[in-house]
This record gives sequence, structure tokens and C-alpha cells, in this order.
Amino acid sequence: AQAVKDAIDAGYRHIDCALYYLNEEEVGAGIKAKIDEGVVKREELFVTSKLWCNLMRPDLCAFCKSLDIVITAYSPLGSPDRPWAKPGDPILVKEPKILALAEKYKKTPAQIILRYLHQLGVVPIPKSVTKSRIAENLDIWDFQLNAADVAVLDTFDCNGRVCQHSEGAGHPNHPFENDEW
Ligand SMILES: NC(=O)c1ccc[n+]([C@@H]2O[C@H](COP(=O)([O-])OP(=O)(O)OC[C@H]3O[C@@H](n4cnc5c(N)ncnc54)[C@H](OP(=O)(O)O)[C@@H]3O)[C@@H](O)[C@H]2O)c1
Repeated sequence: AQAVKDAIDAGYRHIDCALYYLNEEEVGAGIKAKIDEGVVKREELFVTSKLWCNLMRPDLCAFCKSLDIVITAYSPLGSPDRPWAKPGDPILVKEPKILALAEKYKKTPAQIILRYLHQLGVVPIPKSVTKSRIAENLDIWDFQLNAADVAVLDTFDCNGRVCQHSEGAGHPNHPFENDEW
């Protein structure tokens, strides 16, 4: 609840939830506290849940653009704290090419990644329980990545998934049956 309150105070208006996260009570308490304080009105908040899709990124982006659908990018920092990370998995915020861009633009690696996603036209939803990072992740509006640097970031696209949702494997509506991960 405290992270949600900090996020609303920082200016976030999109809160992503899921039954699966088992945090609805805490998220709801954070939202209610800020509505009760008069910081935000319910109609100003965009509270989302989940819709799975099995299209990979370029196809999905083109399909959604054709229908004027806005795409949300979950785990935009590569979910470095995911419990199922394997030794040797890339940690995006520590990747040398991203560190170099951070140095060049005088921003943090997370801000480089989030700005990149914004410039792609998707809405990144980073998660942090750290107040300073909550603010940092919203501070991406004062710079623009040039085309060459966007191309550098494009090279991280490996058509892979950090969230496998293997707990749903075998279910008729599980969308990732044929994926390798
Ligand atoms: N639709 C789906 O199936 C689905 C799946 C997964 C996630 N999601 C949504 O996406 C949101 C984000 O996903 P996620 O938590 O998996 O991954 P993420 O946002 O890519 O990464 C979160 C991790 O990055 C750290 N972090 C945050 N800001 C940082 C910064 N500025 N510098 C360095 N590290 C930073 C966080 O640490 P601290 O918290 O310790 O600061 C946390 O360990 C979730 O909250 C959820 O709403 C949706």
C-alpha cells in the first residue's frame, strides 16, 4: 500500500493489478487512502488487469497500431528480481551498452530503457517499492534517444520471455504453449 501511495504522490496514474498477484487488498488500500486524502479522484486513475496474447513484439505492435490499441509493456526493466532468473540471464540495468547510453544522456539505465519503450509507442509499467526509483522511473521526459541509439536498444530484442506463466501450461487458454523459453 505504501508503494502505491508513493507512486500516486509522484504522479503515477496507471496502476497494474492482477488477481494472481494476491496484492489487491494492499493496492486497493493505497488507492483508497489517496482518494480519501483528496490527492486523486478515482476517474483519474487507470487501473488495469490482464489480457494475454501470444503474438511476438513486432507483429503485436503492428496489429494493435492498426486498431488504435495502446500496448502496455510489463516487466519493462526485464524483471531483474524475478525468482526464476537463471545464472547468466542478462540484467538489463547492468548491460554495458545500456550503461554507456546512460552515461551519454546523463540518465540512469532504467530511464534509458523506459524512454526507449516510450519512443516505441508502448506504455511501460515499471515496478518499484523504492521511493527514489518510483520518482526516477517517471523522470524520462527531458531527453530524446536518437535513431542510432534506438537501434542499439533494438538489438536487445531476443524474441524471448522473462515471464513464462508456465503455471498455466496445459490450460486450453494458456497462450504460450508453443514458445521456447
Ligand atoms: N501481464 C503480465 O503477465 C505481467 C507479468 C509481470 C509483470 N506485470 C506488471 O509489470 C509490472 C512490472 O514488472 P516486474 O516487477 O516484473 O519487472 P520490472 O518493473 O521490469 O522490474 C522490477 C525490478 O526492477 C527494480 N527497479 C525498479 N526501478 C529501478 C530502477 N530505476 N533502477 C534499478 N532497478 C529498478 C525493482 O526493484 P525495487 O522494487 O526493489 O526498487 C524490481 O526489482 C508489475 O508490477 C506488474 O504490474 C504484468
